[in-house]
Amino acid sequence: MELQDALGTTFAARDFTNDPLPDETLFKILDRARFAPSGGNRQGWRVIVVRDRQTREALAALTTPVAKRYAAQQEARESPWNPIDPTSVDAATIERTPAPARLTEPLLRAAVVLVVCVDLKVVAATDQYLSRVGVVPGASIYPFAWNILLAARAEGFGGTITTLAVAQEPKIQELLGIPGHVAVSAVMPLGRPVKQLTRLRRKAVPEFATRERWNGPPFPG
Ligand SMILES: Cc1cc2nc3c(=O)[nH]c(=O)nc-3n(C[C@H](O)[C@H](O)[C@H](O)COP(=O)(O)O)c2cc1C
Repeated sequence: MELQDALGTTFAARDFTNDPLPDETLFKILDRARFAPSGGNRQGWRVIVVRDRQTREALAALTTPVAKRYAAQQEARESPWNPIDPTSVDAATIERTPAPARLTEPLLRAAVVLVVCVDLKVVAATDQYLSRVGVVPGASIYPFAWNILLAARAEGFGGTITTLAVAQEPKIQELLGIPGHVAVSAVMPLGRPVKQLTRLRRKAVPEFATRERWNGPPFPG
């Protein structure tokens, strides 16, 4: 498949057919994804391949309270789980907001769920002393996660990088026996998408690129 096509059509797939995603195909996908970059080429990724129904149910259950807050904040026109603007939604409202099925059910319906982890002992977090949430360490794992989706696309499969369950990381570590210094970066349902999107809604270049300074003229002009 052409790179250009893959970049323009790899979407967040959440609805899957009943087709299996065999181990051999998954191996091929991971075997391509492993060429992702990471800080210092330390390749701190680990992937747990989850097919077991009970484990998926546990992951979906861990996602549910996090998804409730996400939905409640969306209803309140907030940016969900945002670290700059704290939520004004109270606990009771969150509690009575249903978790949207699209945020939990893909974990049950996908052919396979990958829990993508990163070993924090090999990550360079150059932003660790700044007074904001860390973004740099994520850059040593999310290119790999994205490569999984690109490689899956080339095989006719798809999935989603999901992070809601990460809010409950200690419980995932306990569930799967993940050591404390290993972070869960994504829980990725993968399968054969019911529909292949061909047009993704994304901003045009001049809306996010400027010349020379933050408030410089839009690029390319
Ligand atoms: C870092 C990150 C976290 C995400 N977390 C979730 C999630 O927890 N649940 C979910 O359903 N989608 C999640 N997504 C998928 C995004 O919603 C999706 O990429 C975006 O809406 C674009 O979708 P599209 O490619 O289908 O247009 C996440 C994506 C990224 C990159």
